[in-house]
Amino acid sequence: MSDSTGTRGHSYYVTTPIYYVNDRPHLGHAYTTVAGDVLSRWHRRRGEQVCFLTGTDEHGQKIMRTAEAHGVSPQEWCDRLVEEEWKPLWRHLQIANDDFIRTTEERHTARVQEFVQDLYDRGEIYRGGYEGPYCVGCEEYKSPGELLDGSGEFEGRKLCPIHRTPVEMLKEENYFFRLSAYGPRLLELYAAEPGFVQPESARNEVVRFVEQGLQDLSISRSTFDWGIPVPWDPGHVIYVWVDALLNYATAVGYGADPERFARTFPADVHLVGKDILRFHAVIWPAMLMANGLPLPERIAANGWLMVGGEKMSKSNLTGISPRQLTDHFGVDAYRYYFLRAVPFGTDGSFSWEDFAARYTSELADDFGNLASRTAAMVGRYFGGVLPAATAAGPAEQALADGLARAAAEADERIGEQLDFAGGLAAVLDFVRQVNGYLSAQEPWKTAKDGSEQGRARLATVLYSAAEALRGIAVLLSPVMPGACGLLWDSLGAEPQLGALADQRIPEAGGWGLLPAGVTVTKGAVLFPRLEEKS
Ligand code: ME8
Ligand code: MG
Repeated sequence: MSDSTGTRGHSYYVTTPIYYVNDRPHLGHAYTTVAGDVLSRWHRRRGEQVCFLTGTDEHGQKIMRTAEAHGVSPQEWCDRLVEEEWKPLWRHLQIANDDFIRTTEERHTARVQEFVQDLYDRGEIYRGGYEGPYCVGCEEYKSPGELLDGSGEFEGRKLCPIHRTPVEMLKEENYFFRLSAYGPRLLELYAAEPGFVQPESARNEVVRFVEQGLQDLSISRSTFDWGIPVPWDPGHVIYVWVDALLNYATAVGYGADPERFARTFPADVHLVGKDILRFHAVIWPAMLMANGLPLPERIAANGWLMVGGEKMSKSNLTGISPRQLTDHFGVDAYRYYFLRAVPFGTDGSFSWEDFAARYTSELADDFGNLASRTAAMVGRYFGGVLPAATAAGPAEQALADGLARAAAEADERIGEQLDFAGGLAAVLDFVRQVNGYLSAQEPWKTAKDGSEQGRARLATVLYSAAEALRGIAVLLSPVMPGACGLLWDSLGAEPQLGALADQRIPEAGGWGLLPAGVTVTKGAVLFPRLEEKS
């Protein structure tokens, strides 16, 4: 990498998994995608060049069977799901991805063939036979030891530990990648780069897995044809996971645009769920090592979102879709809630009640109310023209310090550690500090003091609250772009400071940036009271 700062030469490159399009997106998919969007917006606010990639995984048996069950070709099925379900949901959730890769696109398929051919030419791939239990849900051979014993309708059968559905015995003559040879180098990598897999628990799991010894990986299939043909033996298709992992390279110009590729690849962060950790932390780096390509900086695994104690998935969605939640709470609160409520990397249970409680206390009462009462008082006492802070003292210094601290802490936690909950907590603590400041200063009482001194204090207090909101708007905008945009308008900030999207995190914690004289208006309510759910 030519430039490790990520500011000029090299892009900060963030990816989500590319999701299977056998069904529509659910809360779990949206969780990882929103996290990626917030992380990449955060880095854009630092002034870095960012590339944020998401997309869809369209080959393999699972998709093929789903399409068959619906009586359409796999390609038709994928096109329909991508255009009618996946892309519209990401637009709705304000996901600002720079690209969307589909594995059926030519820019992907042709390059995957080149990559695999290159491995073949290097002697990394050989022909062999394999027989073992296969889970179509995972698109993965399982080792017999990890299977569960079925009961009830699955009595006497062996089940996938993730999907809890029966595995199928597969016997195939196909091609193998010499994955087993990479165990020692992978263990060296985990030891040399302790942050390569996050969180710590995920890292330990991967290390233990590799320490047990790796088997070679079957990388082709000949029993069905919905995939990318193996270039030297077109009777086989490339294993869907090898195909899928390569999206991270093909989307940014692998084999097609060397400059773009050099500028972007490898990823700074691959965001994944725990279910697909091994593919990303074991197989993917081994594939890159075998091909002589640079390795990603880190693989960050999010935990499970659970409903009623079970991992959320297509089969146990319990009826809640992302749009049902955004209809009720709005898109901004939706983006905020999961990142705030679930420490990233750990499992978290969703409940409607918890969402409603946080919405009301943190967003409506703390944040929304601070914005609306500040704007209302500037309107009432100063005709909507922000006065200057001519009588600042220790209370205002404490606010300025509080903002600087919140900005630094949020930047470290969100931008570096992917601790979204901790970073948001730091900003929300500051919001409460500003509310406490207003309660202590009681500007509504000072307003009755007509003296010059009283007027100067009133001006100082309202200026300080508005300036605090300026910082809060910038710090929360990667998470809640809509509400923070309304706040930015209400503060009259844009004509003086420029668009919210152009504000920079390193400056956000400064003080005195919003100039006196701007026009403050009482804008739309940021977080309206929730309707009673019937
Ligand atoms: O695995 N909680 O796609 P997929 C949190 N195509 N995150 C969840 C979740 C939950 N309950 N359920 C799903 C695939 N996710 C492959 C990926 S990448 C080269 C290929 C999220 O549609 C989480 O990020 O099964 C998980 O890893 C991903 O969706 C799996 O999506
Ligand atoms: Mg899955």
